[in-house]
Amino acid sequence: STVLMNGEFIPREEAKVDIEDRGYQFGDGIYEVIRVYNGKMFMAKEHLERLSASSEKIGIATSYSISELTILLEELIAKNSLSTGILYMQFTRGVSPRNHSYPETVAPAFVAYTKPLSRPLDNLENGVGTITVEDIRWSRCDIKSLNLLGNVMAKQKAAEAGCFESIQYRDLSVTEGSSSNIWIVNGGKIRTHEANQFILNGITRQKIIQLCEENGIEVEEKAFSIEDLIDADEVFLSSTTAEVTPITAVNNVPVKEGNIGEVTKKLQDLFVEAIV
Ligand code: PDD
Repeated sequence: STVLMNGEFIPREEAKVDIEDRGYQFGDGIYEVIRVYNGKMFMAKEHLERLSASSEKIGIATSYSISELTILLEELIAKNSLSTGILYMQFTRGVSPRNHSYPETVAPAFVAYTKPLSRPLDNLENGVGTITVEDIRWSRCDIKSLNLLGNVMAKQKAAEAGCFESIQYRDLSVTEGSSSNIWIVNGGKIRTHEANQFILNGITRQKIIQLCEENGIEVEEKAFSIEDLIDADEVFLSSTTAEVTPITAVNNVPVKEGNIGEVTKKLQDLFVEAIV
């Protein structure tokens, strides 16, 4: 397949990273994952705006404008004849002799590639199991940073428990999944953590809020407790790859006797309408 690396389209085998790339040594960079449905990027503008916001927060000057990047990414999708899948891209601060502080003059390093990936139809239909884990990450989870160790460790705990996702909590509040946002439904009203520095403001999250507002579903952006999670009528998660995935169990305890809730189903239907 073809990879876009620092402005050039090159074969995957030729895409090499320097040992002193700051992304490789420090996790000093940012990334995005964009869904591609039928050869078209879904919510590309929102993803690229978040990329640009992340880059500003850590002082990396990305080498392209959003419109330049859009054209390059569309070209990459076409070169790889990608129909349904994902597009991964990252900027690191660049290659420089190892030193924690930012180098004075360094060009950011960019890479983007695509991967075919079908919609997770089985999970969408049957739901997934989850466990709760303490959120041990830093307090700038709003930045989509390459430093994913806390997320990786949380996901591994889920995998070891035979679950799809870990639901993280900080003090008494549920924050988000290891790679998703978490939602509860009570009395037809949905709720998710507010978009502050303790979560990533998911693009799927933003789409769901918009769909709720357009369809008269009450939505509240306010952190909820583990107790609220356990008592909820319905629980679901959202992400670029997982869309609106029902959560049917938390710590081995079924949510709603393990059935998919009405509001979750409604949101899934609205989401599908939005992507076709
Ligand atoms: N993860 N929270 C975290 C920590 C995430 O890593 C993600 C996405 C989300 C959901 O964001 P969005 O709806 O924009 O995908 C929330 C991506 C898919 C990943 O790292 O693979």
